[in-house]
Parts: sequence; C-alpha cells; structure tokens
Amino acid sequence: MPYPEELKSLIKVVESTRAERVERKKRNEEVPFLNLDERTEMLQYHPDVKEEGRRELQVGPNKGYRIAHEMADMLEARSRVDPAKIDLSRIDHETDVLVIGGGGAGTAAALYARQNGAKVIIATKLRHGDANTMMAEGGIQAATKGHKDSPYFHYLDVMGGGHFKNVPQLVETLVTRAPDAIKWLESLGCNFSKDSDGTMRTIHGGGTSRKRMHYAADITGAEIMRTIRDEARNYPDDIQVIEFSPAVELILNDKGHCAGAVLYNLETEEYLIVKARAVVMATGGCGRLHIQGFMTTNHYGATADGIVMGYRAGVGICFLHTVQYHPTGIVFPEQAEGILITEKFRGAGANLVNIDGHQFVNEREPRDVEAASIIKECIVRSKGVPTPTGKLGIWLDSPMIDMLQGEGTVEREFPGKFILYKRFGIDIAREPMLIYPTLHYQNGGLDFKDSGETSIPGLFVGGEVGGGIHGENRLMGNSLLDIMVYGRIAGATAATYAKEKAEDGALTLDHVVKYNKEAEAAGVPEDRVAPMILPDYTDPRIREKQLTAHYVGTLR
Ligand code: FUM
Repeated sequence: MPYPEELKSLIKVVESTRAERVERKKRNEEVPFLNLDERTEMLQYHPDVKEEGRRELQVGPNKGYRIAHEMADMLEARSRVDPAKIDLSRIDHETDVLVIGGGGAGTAAALYARQNGAKVIIATKLRHGDANTMMAEGGIQAATKGHKDSPYFHYLDVMGGGHFKNVPQLVETLVTRAPDAIKWLESLGCNFSKDSDGTMRTIHGGGTSRKRMHYAADITGAEIMRTIRDEARNYPDDIQVIEFSPAVELILNDKGHCAGAVLYNLETEEYLIVKARAVVMATGGCGRLHIQGFMTTNHYGATADGIVMGYRAGVGICFLHTVQYHPTGIVFPEQAEGILITEKFRGAGANLVNIDGHQFVNEREPRDVEAASIIKECIVRSKGVPTPTGKLGIWLDSPMIDMLQGEGTVEREFPGKFILYKRFGIDIAREPMLIYPTLHYQNGGLDFKDSGETSIPGLFVGGEVGGGIHGENRLMGNSLLDIMVYGRIAGATAATYAKEKAEDGALTLDHVVKYNKEAEAAGVPEDRVAPMILPDYTDPRIREKQLTAHYVGTLR
C-alpha cells in the first residue's frame, strides 16, 4: 500500500531537511563516527546484550552455554521421529555424498563433490534455491584488485568486524580463497556489475578498509544462486535433487561415523532413508525463529535445522550467543515486513533520519552499532516514526541518492527494491523508506575446521550453519563469500572422504534415543519438537510472539 496521509505529512519533515543534508554530504561533513567508548556504550541497546533474552542450555555437548531462548528451545527439543518406528534397513536412496540444503553453500558443495568424483544427492526443504542466498543483496567481498588490497587487509577487516573473536584459521582460509571464488563464479556466467571497459565494480561495505565488494546490482545473491543452480542442473546423472524433503535427523553408523539422514517428504508425509558415505550440512540460518520477537530477512525455511541435527548427533556449537540484526529491514508496508534493504543504500548516500528529519548516526558504523543506534532512537529517545499498525521506524532517505549521483541512479542501481516498492505504489527515488533492525544472520553455528570437517567423521559443514568465521559480528559481503569458499571446501573434502576413508557399518539412530532421554531427564517439555521445518504462523501464540516485534510491546 502507498504511504497513508499521516506518513505523507511526516515525509514532509524529511523533505524539509533534505537539501541541507545533501549539501553537507557533498562537503563531506558527515556525522562523526562514534569512538570506541561511545560504541561500547551504544551497544547497550543491542538485543544481544539483554541477559533476559537468553538462558543456559540444559542438554547436549554445550550444556550450560547461554544462548537465545528461541535457539535453546530448538536445541533441547525432542526429535520429530520415533527411532523405534524408523526402519533403517529400508534404504530409499544411496549415494556417495548427501548434501543437506539446496542454497548457495549446498549447491556449491554438490558441484565440488561431483568435480571430485562423487555421486551426489541434494536434499532440500523447499525448492532448489529457496534459501537465504537467493535473498542476499549487497555483494561478495574478495581482494581481487592488486596492490591496493590483499587478503591481508581483508583478514584484518573480518577480524575487526567480529570483535577479534573469530577463529583465525577459518578467516585466513576465507580471505585467501576469496579471489578464486569470484573467478569461479565468473567462469560459470555470473553477471557481476561492471564498468564499460569490463572491469568489475567494487565498493565499500560497512567496516571494510578497501573497496572489495563485488556485486550484481542489489540482487547479488539471486544472480549467484541462478548461476550455480543452473550449473548443478547440468549434471542430472551425478547430482540428484530431492525437493520438499527436509532432513530431520542425521543417521550415524555403529562406528560413530555419519552415514546419511532421515528425510521427511512434505507432500506425502513419509520418511525417507538416505544412506551416504559422507554428509555435508548446509542448511543455512535461523531467522524464522524470530529471536526476541524480531522480524527477519530470512526465507521461510530458515529454522536452524542443521544446528539441531548436528548438535543432537554430538557436534559442539559456538558463537550462538550473538545473532545479527541488520539495521535496515522494511517495517512498512507491512506485507514486506522484515525484508532486507541493502546497506548499499547508505553507502550510496541515503541518510538515516528520525521523526524530526534529523540525521542521528553515521550510516557506515558497524552493523551492530548502527542497529543499536536505531533501536535507541526509537525506544529510548522516542524519535521513531509510528506506522499505521503501531510499530516504529526510522526513515532511510533514498531520494538523496539521485540528488547526489544523478537522476535515475536509484532505479538503475537498486532495481530489486525499486520494483518491490513500486508494487506498493511507493517511488523510492522520491520517497524515503521506513526501516527498523531485522534479524538477519546467525553469527555462530556448528564447530568445524577450515577443511569443512566436524568432530563426527563423515559429517562436513558449509555456510551459515557453521560458526567461528565471523566471530561475534559478520561484515557485509562475507556471507556470500563464506558459502562459496566453505561450500566448495566441504564438497571437495566430503568427496575425498567418501572415496578414501568412509567405513561401512550398521545404521543407527541411537544418538537420538540418547538425546531424547537426556531432554526428558532435564525436564524439557515433551511438546517441543525440532527441527521446526517451517514456522507455523497460524498458531496465534506464535503469531503474537513472532510477528509482533518487541518494540510494539515497548510502545504500548
Ligand atoms: O546489506 C546487505 O546487502 C547485506 C549484505 C550481507 O549481509 O552480506
């Protein structure tokens, strides 16, 4: 829906300060960055620091670790399957490498497993490509441009962004393999944005010291996913894709090695047994858990399934005490609630402006600081803009971009958002967007090594489901990179393992029986089951909790 009259009159306030803000930008008179002490102070308003937002895990390898209630609920829950009723002798599919997840990391893993001689099955919850990769907008970082940049500077930026808590080896591998990931994507036909002489365009992202963000307009993830999905579909004899069939439990063998998974066919409601010599877990993130009631940028299937299955099988977790709230998610129109508005709008010159038309923060602060500033402005300083349904937002003043960079820039550089808003009757080249922080990324996940290996032989990890690369805060453009680098590594390592190391053994779900007993002993309510698979928005309790963001409560 277009902006209603009450918002239109508030837009006039934004317009009244715009010309002066544009002039200030032209003169490089930015709102200063916060110093370290001020940033620390600002982070008080970040949802991660709310102690009441988390609790100690009661079961599993990381018992005692304090993480978000919503994630803890999933990790402690009972299995969806009753191991006594699953006949593991009736194998439905057998393969060298089973890839769980059909997004960017899973598809890259499948391609590299195939390239290394494996037959592959991709099992995916929805359609092949229904994943957070598809929804990624801003870009993919890689130091491809010679003397002004190198993996060394990229490494320092990633570590700084993660508050120097990152696992150094994981970061080193990420940044040194980055240029090759870009080359690989280009060789497959990925259409990155380029200058007229064919040079790839690269820009800054929040927290980058060099311009190394490669992109395809504001639909980078969709373009990458299109490219690698097409490539995977070129090899139907080697890569079989089973859609609408999420994995719900890993299968181990009696040697303790990972040996397949139980899938659940969403259409027939049958369980399928896939036996595999190696398994790659690439299930992505957890946005649909709506941690602390936040809206999310994530696709409908992002419910932390891989972490649940891996943890239950015995793999440890790390960095799940932090999650990333992207500063700018759509808060109006409500039909598009939570959808990402790429950081690149701010990079291109759009100010964040409060109800008084005042710019209150530098737009290139690290994501966690930026998100905390917006929350503070709305909740503590009461300078948010009320939406028709009682939520609060801040203006992202996109019309400034055309004023700074020439008529037509918004439409040309941000076609994804331009078209989306046009459908609602809003022209973002002329009217600002209303935003609020939105749950975006799972900074942590399953423990793994830079070879893709986990503590369970035969189980490998690629992409958002793994933890440690980004420390406590990921920088823009390093998740598309992560899935390309670690998806490919996991696929290659899994194929080699399948060929050279995998040992046969009797299949078992004993780890599930044991886990269920542990949950029972800890008094976990029996009606909590996981993986969630899809959020149930028809359940009024869930709707209240998940779609009514906490700031509504505060407003009331
Ligand atoms: O703002 C963005 O485009 C987000 C990118 C990312 O999370 O990497």
